Amino acid sequence: MDRPGKRAVPSLRYLHTVPAFQEQYRFIDGDVGPIGGLMWDGRAASLRDQAKLPLLNPDEMANKDVAAVSRKLSRAGYAQLFREVFGAHIFDDPRRAFAAGMRALEAFQLTPDQFFPYSSRYDAYLRGEVELSDQEERGVELFKDPAKGNCASCHLGVSRAGTPPPFTDFDFVNVGVPRNPRIRANADPAYYDLGLCGPERRDFARRHEYCGYFRSPTVRNTAIRDAYFHNGAFSTLRDVLRFYNERDLHPEKFYPRNPDGSVHLYDDLPPGMPDNIDHDPPLDRKPGVDPALSDQDIEDIIAFLNTLVDADVSR
Ligand code: HEC
Repeated sequence: MDRPGKRAVPSLRYLHTVPAFQEQYRFIDGDVGPIGGLMWDGRAASLRDQAKLPLLNPDEMANKDVAAVSRKLSRAGYAQLFREVFGAHIFDDPRRAFAAGMRALEAFQLTPDQFFPYSSRYDAYLRGEVELSDQEERGVELFKDPAKGNCASCHLGVSRAGTPPPFTDFDFVNVGVPRNPRIRANADPAYYDLGLCGPERRDFARRHEYCGYFRSPTVRNTAIRDAYFHNGAFSTLRDVLRFYNERDLHPEKFYPRNPDGSVHLYDDLPPGMPDNIDHDPPLDRKPGVDPALSDQDIEDIIAFLNTLVDADVSR
């Protein structure tokens, strides 16, 4: 436990609706760009592929290799069940045993009541079972209003096959999250976590237009997190909302200063990168203009986000 990771742990809930990664997806608004895939950078193709990564990552579960995981499985209390499901000789071949373990994890993660219960108050409201308070209703409107929060443009998405809304469109965007000095790897000024263009993901390493792109996560259950965005740069929802509202209006609140006193905008991107920072509302405000949201609006959106917390994980 002496090797800290480099990213905030994302939720494993509601991943069943994440589409496979695709580079040239046409969104409803006509935009074409990358979508989907698991992990913040979309590099895992399926739940079973995703499960391998933390098991073998030296910063996470730190298993030496596939054989080490397979050995642990063969000694587990459920090893006999494993043999019954995957064959009596499953542990003879560590690669097959490992793959079977990943299939089992995937099956577990597709259990609705554990991983996608849709038990939040907002889901109950959609089913007509409860009412929202006036403040929560205002929050919903602000979340959707393109001239206000505009959150729904990235965090609503299309319901598939009659499921309730996913609260993400699975799109990749660079919202310019500040560098987090509490991440040990960031002590190295040459280290940058650039999401889609690396360094964890390698296939788009030369595609600088994708640097800083991370997949929009669902905002279901986000109200109970302590670490927001891929690098955990913020620890409260209020700070996240203030960032969306004032990033370009009062950048000095979020970014450090350069030696000459100017503000180091978008400081978690290396110099010389193409400007691919998102400027959709509410991130479109220039200094001197009114912010999209008032303090009351921010509180209302937070009240709404609290209705998206599942019943069994409410604080
Ligand atoms: C242009 C698309 C876009 C818009 C508009 C947008 N978001 Fe996001 N949101 C993202 C992306 C992309 C991330 C992940 C960014 C990262 O980690 O670098 C994110 C992350 C978040 C997170 C962190 C979730 C977590 O699990 O860490 C929250 C909370 C959030 N957004 C809420 C909102 C709210 C509330 C609004 C409206 C005020 C909003 N977003 C508007 C794209 C958007």
